[in-house]
Amino acid sequence: QAERAALKDQIRRLLQEKNAVMVSHYYVHPDLQDLTEETGGLVSDSLEMARFGRDHAAQTLVVSGVRFMGETAKILSPEKTVLMPDLDATCSLDLGCPIDDFSAFCDQHPDRTVVVYANTSAAVKARADWLVTSSCALDIVGALKAAGQKILWAPDRHLGAYIQRETGADMVFWNGACIVHDEFKALELELLKKQYPQAKVLVHPESPADVVALADAVGSTSAILKAAREMDATEFIVATDNGMMHKLRTLNPGKTFYEAPTAGNSATCKSCAHCPWMAMNGLADVARVLETGANAVHVDPALIPRARQPIDRMLAFTA
Ligand code: 13P
Ligand code: SF4
Repeated sequence: QAERAALKDQIRRLLQEKNAVMVSHYYVHPDLQDLTEETGGLVSDSLEMARFGRDHAAQTLVVSGVRFMGETAKILSPEKTVLMPDLDATCSLDLGCPIDDFSAFCDQHPDRTVVVYANTSAAVKARADWLVTSSCALDIVGALKAAGQKILWAPDRHLGAYIQRETGADMVFWNGACIVHDEFKALELELLKKQYPQAKVLVHPESPADVVALADAVGSTSAILKAAREMDATEFIVATDNGMMHKLRTLNPGKTFYEAPTAGNSATCKSCAHCPWMAMNGLADVARVLETGANAVHVDPALIPRARQPIDRMLAFTA
């Protein structure tokens, strides 16, 4: 406890000294989320993290999350220093979509508009026409469909299939998945629903289709937070990374949140779904990188102008 308090003091001091601000995702440790907000930073979903990093006046951004979030911040602000607690914090979607294979897939479908999820490398973004996050994928693909465009979608197959079901767009898919959300199981979820029949089910669309089918609300991390605040219910079952529970519980003290079960886990699931890469972010590393300047995110400068185009389009569309 004393060590955590000392680290927090050190980070507060360093943020001021280095003209730095923290930007954190909802899945990182509660200590980081709380300190981020307390020091004027932002805790949010991947879309708003990108916008905040671009617009904030600080010279240094400390991005707690996974690598694509730091890279997106760097692409949008090449003149800023972007630090991450751990540069090895990656994402199964990014890992599962290497640029050479992805480029060959795009070459096979030259007539399609290339829409990629934010959870990708800078090189994959540089091959895309549009970037989307879970917050805006439905609206952007819906608009592209209305304009008569056919879509090549990568990399998350569950999110892509959800968008296709909702919009009816003509889509071909890359076969990627999030190792965390892919583990939620419909059968176990149905049993938990029987146990808590009043509970509303909130699901992130990276989850399999049969889990999404049981949802009362489907959406990004910020959409899940909004639904929990606005829905007329006091109990919720949540199918997303359990890092989300911190915000859900602190912002809704009168409501009860249960974690949705994953494979092999019963209705009493506790901390079953947690991204191993989000878990790599900690207070000690934030203090260390601020102190030393280590773990600066580097994106090949030759890629930046092209990788920025689909991100700018997304940010303008959602402005
Ligand atoms: P959000 O954009 O909904 O925050 O999702 C990011 C992510 O990595 C979910 O697993
Ligand atoms: Fe990637 Fe899934 Fe982790 Fe999000 S939770 S960063 S999609 S592996």
